Amino acid sequence: MSHLQDLEFRVFPGDCDARGNLGHGGLVGLFERAFWESLSRGPGFDLFMRNAVWLQIARQTVEVTRTAVLGQLLTFRSSLTVEDESTLLLGQSARFSGGGAIVAEAESALVLVDADGRRVSVPEEFVSLFAGRRSQPRGSTRNLAVRGYAASVDVQGDGPAILFIHGFPLDRTIWRHQLATISGWRRIAPDLRGLGLSDGPATGYTMAEYADDAAALLDLLGIEEVVVAGLSMGGYVAFEIFRRHPGRVQALVLVNTRAGADSEEARARREEMIALVEREGPEALVDVLMPKLLAPASLTSMPQVVDHVQAMIAQSPKEGVIGALRAMKDRPDSEAFLAEINVPTLVVAGSDDQLIPTGEARRMAGLIPGAQFTTIPAAGHLAPLEQPIGFSRVLSEFLESLT
Ligand code: MLT
Repeated sequence: MSHLQDLEFRVFPGDCDARGNLGHGGLVGLFERAFWESLSRGPGFDLFMRNAVWLQIARQTVEVTRTAVLGQLLTFRSSLTVEDESTLLLGQSARFSGGGAIVAEAESALVLVDADGRRVSVPEEFVSLFAGRRSQPRGSTRNLAVRGYAASVDVQGDGPAILFIHGFPLDRTIWRHQLATISGWRRIAPDLRGLGLSDGPATGYTMAEYADDAAALLDLLGIEEVVVAGLSMGGYVAFEIFRRHPGRVQALVLVNTRAGADSEEARARREEMIALVEREGPEALVDVLMPKLLAPASLTSMPQVVDHVQAMIAQSPKEGVIGALRAMKDRPDSEAFLAEINVPTLVVAGSDDQLIPTGEARRMAGLIPGAQFTTIPAAGHLAPLEQPIGFSRVLSEFLESLT
């Protein structure tokens, strides 16, 4: 299930019956407006244009539990879920604003139609956006035996290859929009060892091991050369792939990441986090990390992104989280190495990233010969998730410049 953005509407005269109560037609109209408005703010209407489909309501039930009256403010919440091959379920609630009681709830079964009004099956992009976090575009997730463990990997599309490496403590689904939309490229997004759905071997948690896992994965997929896109910790892995397997890297995309190693203070914080996870499990990291990973505006206005990130953190396997913390703590400094990067490189920052300030990312880009630098507005530390359309556009333009 994916929550769309909550919205507030005031009950106006046109929504009411002769006694000034919110009428049935008015209520259904407000539910409809809330859904379309939140969709336009969330994935955006170009979702429909890209997939050449449109939504139609096939069935709807509305249950009214309280009476709202003229002038009252109501908060609408909409959640969209792919139900099966051809249906999406839209669940909605309207409550008195300020955390008040539920006024009404609605459930609608939605189907998708093409330009001629014929029903079509739910496209992959909808599945990637509106399925549960553990489900992925149908048929695209593979389990591959990589260097002695089972790696979970999403592979989509054909063409030159791009390898997406996620950050900490996240998984491959942070790239779901890019997996669904960057056409003309073979998109590969693995869960790093011990994270997401990949097995957690007891040992092997260093940047070098992650990099060798990536190279082994490319061997298994029969791919010689790739564009490597890494977010934050994924960027640390990307540096290591370039260092250890330079011949395999066609270009680099360094997203919300830095080149420097941990300071003494940062290493001490990693130790504290390791102790916390050992004691209380990865769920304990949710409160610590959420305000750092997402921009303040994303935290308040993007419930679907908040749900997704919280679930990734809470469901991360303990061994993999501890392993990743140790790998980051002991990672090599890549600052001096930046001048040796001799492939096209794009550095992407989030305007509101609280972990990697824009200035630091810009400085890093300045140290890489010929690197391009872009800031994604209204994005925190997770630009591909918080601003999927803007981020994918920047990435597509960079990829086009390579071909
Ligand atoms: C990440 O998003 O991967 C982490 O913030 C990286 C880090 O803690 O250094």
